[in-house]
Amino acid sequence: MTLNDRVIYQIYPKSFLDTTGSGIGDLKGVTQKLPYLADLGIDMVWLNPFYPSPQRDNGYDISNYKAIDPMFGNFEDFAEMVAEGRKYGIEFMLDMVLNHVSIEHEWFQKALAGDKYYQDFFILRDDPTNWNSKFGGSAWAPFGNTGRYYLHLYDISQADLNWRNENVRHEMFEVVNFWRLKGISGFRFDVINVIGKDEVLHDNSLSEGKFEYTDKPIVHDYLQMLNKATFGHDPHAVTVGEMSSTTIENSILYTRPDRHELSMVFNFHHLKVDYKDGNKWTKMPFDFTQLRDLFHEWGEQMSENGGWNALFWNNHDQPRALNRFIDVKNFRVKGAKMLAASIHLSRGTPYVYMGEEIGMVDPDYTSVNNYLDLETLNAYQSLLKKGMTEKEAFEILKAKSRDNARTPMQWDNGKNTGFTTGRPWLAVGNHPEINVAQDKNGEIYNFYKKLIALRKSEKLISDGTYKAAMKDSDSIYAFIREFGNQKLLVLNNFRNRSISFDLPNEFFASEIWINNYDDYKKNTLQPYQSVAFLKNKF
Ligand code: GLC
Repeated sequence: MTLNDRVIYQIYPKSFLDTTGSGIGDLKGVTQKLPYLADLGIDMVWLNPFYPSPQRDNGYDISNYKAIDPMFGNFEDFAEMVAEGRKYGIEFMLDMVLNHVSIEHEWFQKALAGDKYYQDFFILRDDPTNWNSKFGGSAWAPFGNTGRYYLHLYDISQADLNWRNENVRHEMFEVVNFWRLKGISGFRFDVINVIGKDEVLHDNSLSEGKFEYTDKPIVHDYLQMLNKATFGHDPHAVTVGEMSSTTIENSILYTRPDRHELSMVFNFHHLKVDYKDGNKWTKMPFDFTQLRDLFHEWGEQMSENGGWNALFWNNHDQPRALNRFIDVKNFRVKGAKMLAASIHLSRGTPYVYMGEEIGMVDPDYTSVNNYLDLETLNAYQSLLKKGMTEKEAFEILKAKSRDNARTPMQWDNGKNTGFTTGRPWLAVGNHPEINVAQDKNGEIYNFYKKLIALRKSEKLISDGTYKAAMKDSDSIYAFIREFGNQKLLVLNNFRNRSISFDLPNEFFASEIWINNYDDYKKNTLQPYQSVAFLKNKF
């Protein structure tokens, strides 16, 4: 296995499978479903945080990095999961939240109690800057009654760490090594491109937004140190950085192998094409041309400059892509397959978010009380404050809440979707017609299986270059992969109607390699049809 032919499956442990009846998913639940993942062809599973945490931000507020929250299980369960995974050729990728700790972490508590050594672990200032928290409000909160403020780019309970302090870096490198010694060689680094803060902090200018703390050059230095002190010793390691509002230039530097930083990055530009004026808490149909151009630009530049992208439509922070990009009422199945083809045939490492392989959609919640996510609840209040009615604000939550992705995995159409015998911590999605028991041999699942297998068997898919095609089409996202004497043209129709097109001359004598429909009508793509034409050059 090489880095390029991997396909990673993301599990939100809280919502995957509960084996105890607590209403919360657990590690044993992950172990139980390894055969299912192996059947799909998965070789690595990314698990969202399962460490002790007050759960203000569902585990991204960690109070102990070297332990397992008992609600998810214990080290024995963990060891069993890793060992069983090996049997199935499945490794694990753990979530490392290195930018901030919970204010319940002992470092913050000691700092608050006056310990100078630990005060230097945090970013404390007398005069706060104008920075906003990503979850709403100021990014600064009073540090006890000292008259000073601590920085929290996320929730008030998530205090940013001072990476300029060598002791902080050392502690965090130790965390990574702790898990490496437990047999882990995959790491996902949470919001890693905001760890580098200057000594003297400046207000963000309105035009540049988050520039003052995003992608600072020193982040590259920190990543090189992290690499050298931890996973760089493991030629087999797979690492991905979650990059907030990053640039292509930086992403090339983060991932070019000779830089010794990370294997790949997540960027989110393509998931903002339905934000009105860049604001998430709005409702707008997605802008296809923007999406197409972003994919082309990132695809080509990463390919030409030796960078490597993580490819994804869904994760635990995003509403389900089917509800955003597809006429899901009429074309859920074909649309799900098209979205899959559009990234699984592209250049980079595809991620499948739990339930995507059976076409899961946003829950049908009817009340704001169904939502638990703090970002969602903050946004609701701020929309009301802006003068929206409760109904208007609710409609926006319904489209945008992170809880859309966090609903329990739908295993069968029994009570609580087969996820728990207890009361699920977050209400189930109310879509009895979509579940694994029924869809495991269905169209979407089998299409994913086929695409995943292709990445393992075909260098053209895993290693081929990426070039944009049909750059002006306002409906078809098209690209060309090339490797050795093979060339593949991939066409994806993002519309719910048939679209005609001219096949580029060089593909006249090609064969249809992949098709998400049973038929192909010459020079026409049916609603959400994906077709890939293969051509051997010699
Ligand atoms: C990342 C996580 C998100 C979390 C945030 C703060 O964006 O994916 O779930 O809230 O970081 O840690």
